[in-house]
Amino acid sequence: MSTKTDFSYGKYLELDEILSAQNRLTDKHDEMLFIIQHQTSELWMKLAIHELTHARVAIKNDDLEHAMKMLARVSRIFEQLNSAWDVLRTLTPDEYTAFRDAFGAASGFQSWQYREIEFLLGNKSEKHLKTHKGHFAYDRLKKALDTPSLYDQTLALLTRRGFDISKGSLPAWKTIYQNTSDHWDLFALAEKLVDLEDYFRRWRFNHVTTVERVIGFKHGSGGTAGVGYLKSMLDVVLFPELWDVRTAL
Ligand code: HEM
Repeated sequence: MSTKTDFSYGKYLELDEILSAQNRLTDKHDEMLFIIQHQTSELWMKLAIHELTHARVAIKNDDLEHAMKMLARVSRIFEQLNSAWDVLRTLTPDEYTAFRDAFGAASGFQSWQYREIEFLLGNKSEKHLKTHKGHFAYDRLKKALDTPSLYDQTLALLTRRGFDISKGSLPAWKTIYQNTSDHWDLFALAEKLVDLEDYFRRWRFNHVTTVERVIGFKHGSGGTAGVGYLKSMLDVVLFPELWDVRTAL
């Protein structure tokens, strides 16, 4: 605990820095919402990365109780991010168009924290690396790409528990889901992962719906087809066998 007498709430939280970083490029009223929505999302993503990185280590160390606690927190973070779309949905197309040209080719597509979350979880799409060339995030993302993901660590755990997953992990998950009391912690971990992916999917869905509401089918500022691209991302599955096992039961 700090004993500094001149210490304060603002200093501890570095509020002067944080609260002076909302610099609108236009004098348009609604640009403030747009900036704060992105900044707060990035802050929550920072916490998600912190939790996911440690959850992955915990799984590697067979400490499933702590891993599950952290995964539960990440699901709540995404729940929070999902509710936040309701604020952005108040941004109408005319309000957005009024400041859109000011930020040129800037796009959430360049969010390296979002990409790191995807890589950490297991959606390792290498093609996204090039977006970050020349930025410190490139090395960080490359490392994330080369490090076993949270799901890779979960599959390694299955092997340590005696399951043969050389021909895929579906039979192992089937056994676990059919005999939950024999494999309770693995079952509980699997359900925590499904929970997390469920919330993550909702984030993607809320994003694409909000985007369609605001820009329709216009191209994105990052150069993709916009809604078409984002809709294609809805098909990405992070933990495929945990969804397939539902059909196999
Ligand atoms: C009116 C608000 C928004 C619009 C119109 C919008 C539009 C788009 C579009 C069209 C894309 C596809 C890439 C491109 O061509 O630019 C995209 C990607 C992305 N946006 Fe947004 N967005 C909005 C709000 C947000 C917010 C609040 C966040 C939170 C951080 C965000 C994060 C992202 C991320 C992470 C991607 C990459 C998704 C992926 O590659 O799967 N966006 N956005």
